[in-house]
Amino acid sequence: MILARHQAELIGNTDLLRIHSLSELTGCDIYLKCEFQNPGGSIKDRAALQMVQDAMQKGQLKSGMTIVEGTAGNTGIGLALVAKSYGMQMLAVMPNDQAKEKERVLELYGAKLMTVDPCPFVNPNHFYHRARSQAEQHKDHWWANQFENTSNARAHYLHTGPEIWKQSQGKVDILVSAAGTGGTIAGNSMYLKEQNPDLKVWLVDPDGSGIYHYLKSGEYKNHGSSITEGIGIMRLVENFRQASIDYGINLPDSDLVTIARYVRNKDGIVLGSSSALNVAGALFAALYSGPGKSVVTFACDLGERSASKLYNTAYLQQKGLLDCPKDVTALVEKYRSQKQRDKVVNTGI
Ligand SMILES: Cc1ncc(COP(=O)(O)O)c(C=O)c1O
Repeated sequence: MILARHQAELIGNTDLLRIHSLSELTGCDIYLKCEFQNPGGSIKDRAALQMVQDAMQKGQLKSGMTIVEGTAGNTGIGLALVAKSYGMQMLAVMPNDQAKEKERVLELYGAKLMTVDPCPFVNPNHFYHRARSQAEQHKDHWWANQFENTSNARAHYLHTGPEIWKQSQGKVDILVSAAGTGGTIAGNSMYLKEQNPDLKVWLVDPDGSGIYHYLKSGEYKNHGSSITEGIGIMRLVENFRQASIDYGINLPDSDLVTIARYVRNKDGIVLGSSSALNVAGALFAALYSGPGKSVVTFACDLGERSASKLYNTAYLQQKGLLDCPKDVTALVEKYRSQKQRDKVVNTGI
């Protein structure tokens, strides 16, 4: 019998699931790396564990100390879980416009929660700066800094990428991912491209984020906004800098709402909002590239973490997203159109 000594040991080794409906529709095999299977319920458990283990190894973090992090929620949940496993406390600094379900989960894991008004990054009250200043003010606090701490990408280079390679038996042609810190796309693109230099990496970006524009022009500019959480960024951070990206595409929230409904109805998978964007990106990449390809993307978390937004009729109505088509046909037609294909950025980065 193999016994785990604590929950942190359960992080990783998630399944790879073929999305039947979209695979049949495109003639590609579209796979979901089921990151919701991590004990904290999201892909960010991996970054949390690696950041903590590396800091412990460097002697920066010890049992009895407090981990502090600015987070959209999932990294905080991952860190809270890992903190418990190693006898530490957790303080999460979070903007107060994120789904309330994540605040609740953080509290259930025993984290202290500090919520702040959302504001631009240049404002010292931004959750990122508030987290750093907490660590500066308290000697026994350690700031995880998921944006600049490359243990985050390392988690995916050391674990997620090798898992995907093994599970797909070396048959992955296309990797699709959104980016928040960029840890996921960086670590996985680095590892998988080392195994298969012909592998193509797609970045899918929501409205309100500047990454798509950055890939296009080198400048962070955005338009609109998005109901997604934990993804999209307006500045170049160290984890994202390590990513190797071939193509970029921006997709609106209406696309992810359609995809979320379709995959829920057809496959019984209730995707979180960033995962729905990833799957829309995977559909796009599959149609763009033609049949016969193996496409891998991430189910970063489940719809439970987006229940008050993506699966809330009143909220969708308020955002003008309620009338998005349930059927995916219109989306497929749109993705096949030349107009949409012309929006793809081929980076060569
Ligand atoms: C639900 C969800 N999806 C995706 C991401 C982005 O992952 P990464 O920070 O590795 O780019 C995050 C990050 O917080 C997240 O919470």
